[in-house]
Amino acid sequence: MTGRTASWIGGTPLKTEWSMRIWTTVEEARRHRQQARGRVALVPTMGALHEGHLRLMGEGRRLADTVFVSIFVNPTQFGPGEDLDHYPRTLEEDLRLCEAAQVAGVFTPSVQEMYPPQVIDAAVDVPDLTSDLEGAWRPGHFNGVCRVVLKLLNIFQPELAMFGEKDYQQLRVVQAMVADLMLPTRIVPVPTVRESDGLAMSSRNRYLDEPQRRKAVGLYKALKQAQRMVEEDQETDPLAVERAM
Ligand code: PAF
Repeated sequence: MTGRTASWIGGTPLKTEWSMRIWTTVEEARRHRQQARGRVALVPTMGALHEGHLRLMGEGRRLADTVFVSIFVNPTQFGPGEDLDHYPRTLEEDLRLCEAAQVAGVFTPSVQEMYPPQVIDAAVDVPDLTSDLEGAWRPGHFNGVCRVVLKLLNIFQPELAMFGEKDYQQLRVVQAMVADLMLPTRIVPVPTVRESDGLAMSSRNRYLDEPQRRKAVGLYKALKQAQRMVEEDQETDPLAVERAM
């Protein structure tokens, strides 16, 4: 299959004239990557794009000559009973946003393409950074993240790959994997983009009802409170900080 231009998707004409390519196979993505101009930045995503992703693309454009985006809801990073089947999938709108952000190409593979049934599974693990925090309550999650990110970095061999600080543990795990496996890609951390009330932008925010959303903002406020106490009030007692939070 050859690359398609964005204006073909869904038969709906896109607003810009930017000619973005869309690939669904590893082979096409590799071929176009090899023809790419200058430094390449990859923005790995699971789609349902928002301002936070646009910031990753913007940083990619600032630091590189060519930006590629991957959109793939990676099944190996979802545990049993998690939201794999319900994860928001908004491909057509995502492609519009990528095109408006002047992305050169989008890779949207199928599950079979990324995990061919005839290939024997390999495991990638950063155990020292994954037994705690999110890793503790989502066993296997970071193995799935590492595995798919390693595949994407091998397919695109980008000079830069953009990761949000919002998923801070993921960022640190990916940085550790890249360092230990001596991959030639620089992982670029990009600051979190927040809603006006402080909530970090996330594709999963759409799951929140009003009370849950208020709680989520409370978390941000508590963290800001802790930061103020430590940085401005020079508080050194962790229990005092915890109580205030
Ligand atoms: O942060 C995400 O959206 C995903 O974990 C990633 C890095 C695209 C891997 O599937």
